[in-house]
Amino acid sequence: MKNKSLVSITDFSKSEYMKILSLAEEYERKPVRNLLTGKVIANLFFEPSTRTRLSFESAINKMGGRIIGFSDSGSSSVTKGETLYDTIKIVSNYCDLIVMRHPLEGSARFASEISSVPVINAGDGANQHPTQTLLDLYSIKKTQGKLDNLTLFIVGDLKYGRTVHSLLMAMSQFNTTFHFISPEELKMPEEYKILLRSLGLKYHEHKDFTDIIAEADIIYMTRVQKERFSDPIEYERTKNAYVLKNKMLTNTKENLKILHPLPRVNEIEQDVDINPKAYYFTQALNGVFIRQAIISSILDVN
Ligand code: CP
Repeated sequence: MKNKSLVSITDFSKSEYMKILSLAEEYERKPVRNLLTGKVIANLFFEPSTRTRLSFESAINKMGGRIIGFSDSGSSSVTKGETLYDTIKIVSNYCDLIVMRHPLEGSARFASEISSVPVINAGDGANQHPTQTLLDLYSIKKTQGKLDNLTLFIVGDLKYGRTVHSLLMAMSQFNTTFHFISPEELKMPEEYKILLRSLGLKYHEHKDFTDIIAEADIIYMTRVQKERFSDPIEYERTKNAYVLKNKMLTNTKENLKILHPLPRVNEIEQDVDINPKAYYFTQALNGVFIRQAIISSILDVN
């Protein structure tokens, strides 16, 4: 992992990301460690973020590193017409590692190819969000005691949701049974289903999940990604397709956990928050430990 960029979840092998999960457990036990003294990390957020940016910042601060960058590209020379190419060429001279979120699919791969330092993809359009996936795997392993042979329901915007694309690719390594629940317009793209078929994995597609909810080990709820729609009418038609309510969890498995990458809009009612099966706030906390593990592995400072 030393000096490797993390653009897609497939950039790390299964054994590499299992090592990240083990290391994150160590950071959870002891988060404050001065391993990044003298290191500078650039956080370049061309798209809004709360969890990803702040958990990266928290992770870096807990390890004694320094942060440069922007949370709004409007305050950078991008507004004067500077290209992504030039921005990365310049910023990579100022830091040891770049963390970048950008609205364009493929932008993180492009940045990693021209940067003189490793690049971590903090989300590129509807494509990938690999650090979210590693914290999702950490959350699943922590709550289920394993990653193998689980039944995973993924609900909502499966077309534009980058977190679900990365999660599917990672969980396809663990003999998962997938249930995809979405409106017709937001179905899982064919390329991901082809991948599952090629691996001989089972997946099922549904319009509703109330009748089958008792089968789930994990329900991964997602927001309908308003910012990715070219047609606002299509967004209005699909935005409230699924709303998880506390009463729906009555006859579910003991081990069931509700995950959501957040932010949520309407898809999980607040009365679910007090149910012990709701795990999304702890899931977001796990992001700090995972990002500590990712940064220290790439910078080889463990
Ligand atoms: N989960 C996630 O990516 O959240 P943010 O958009 O707030 O970073």
